[in-house]
Amino acid sequence: MPINRREVLSVGLAAAVGALAGCSSSNAPGDSASQVEVFSWWTGPGEKEGLDALVADFKAKNPGIDFNNATVAGGAGSNSKTILANRLKANDPPDSYQVHAGLDLQSDVRAGKCEDLTSLYERQGWTDKLPKNLLDAVTLDGRIYSVPVDVHRANLLWYSPKVATAAGIAAPPKTWDEFLAQGEALRAKGLTALSIGPAWTQKHLLETVLLGQLGPDKYLGLWNGRTDWKGPEVLAVLALFIQVLGYSDLGSAAGDWQPALDKIISGAAVYNVMGDWVVAYFSTSKQLVYDTDYAVTASPGSAGIYDFLSDSFTLAKGARHRAAGEKWLVECGSTGGQNLFNPRKGSVPARLDGDSALYRGYLAEAMAAWKDTHTKVVGSLTHGVVANSAWSAAIDTALVAFVRSRDAQAFAAAVAASYESSK
Ligand code: GAL
Repeated sequence: MPINRREVLSVGLAAAVGALAGCSSSNAPGDSASQVEVFSWWTGPGEKEGLDALVADFKAKNPGIDFNNATVAGGAGSNSKTILANRLKANDPPDSYQVHAGLDLQSDVRAGKCEDLTSLYERQGWTDKLPKNLLDAVTLDGRIYSVPVDVHRANLLWYSPKVATAAGIAAPPKTWDEFLAQGEALRAKGLTALSIGPAWTQKHLLETVLLGQLGPDKYLGLWNGRTDWKGPEVLAVLALFIQVLGYSDLGSAAGDWQPALDKIISGAAVYNVMGDWVVAYFSTSKQLVYDTDYAVTASPGSAGIYDFLSDSFTLAKGARHRAAGEKWLVECGSTGGQNLFNPRKGSVPARLDGDSALYRGYLAEAMAAWKDTHTKVVGSLTHGVVANSAWSAAIDTALVAFVRSRDAQAFAAAVAASYESSK
């Protein structure tokens, strides 16, 4: 049964209850329009190109504003989130910062870190330019708190047709059991089935194994208490995740997501599970050709499902350059800005009116799938949609222990307990 996007995203901000503490109008210490500080983690190859295009357009439209590009390297915000949290705690916010739409944003809104952008949305006429589900993911109690610039898909399996064929693989696996069988055959030839990177990429892999094995309904249930983490079905998936990792290069994994992707091109590994920012890295940074040098398919068991995430920007409470910060948000929310950014970022536009002619190859397929009402949409764990910051951080800690101990029961118990305590 197709899942209604609206229902899926009811885990998002719109469904949240409770009053907002301290997220009302501005009491910004300054309002200079001469500069703006924008904080993100888009600094590596495959991430930087999209941001650079957006910033260039912003500068052309706002010649009087100095753009302070505050980026902290580390995929999925693995380093930047701690630095940002410390700055926010010390009342030293950047004017605008990157945050995932969904419960990640909701955590910041509840903590009083974000300005209410509802009137900016009204002035810009944005409310009917975003799909309802995405608007819901940046809304809490009827107020809107960030500007989404893109939509990414997380549940993807990347490979090089040339490397796969040379390794004797006829077609990528459609299920995780098929993956294990291929992993065994590859191992017998001295080959590695899967490349993996740092902890956040392991969490990303875990989310796709859960999705592929449980299906979208039970996967969603993991995040709203309806699927029992400690039940036999989830425990079996967790055991399978450990088996999958057993066919990876976990022991020698080093660097961020890009080096892990390099391995599937060089032949050091056959597959990698990652979001579609890989397209920007391969096509733009590495000048590789889609469907020739690299190919992609849904991660095993997840065909027809869009495990989505969206990068958005806030106006931080206490921003020193509020007026310039708003101008940056106008850039992020504009058709022109999104048309420049997304084709270079490997994402589809958050706006519904993006120029589809700009999206070719994989991105044309992604755009069609995202807009297809039959696509089953679920939200990403690793990239902020379905778990609030406290729960997600607790899962990170438990996962590091799990990968080491391989104790599925202890992991499930820790995740279930931290769900209760983070509610
Ligand atoms: C995600 C983010 C993407 C991409 C990726 C790798 O969390 O949403 O835009 O940057 O991390 O860093």
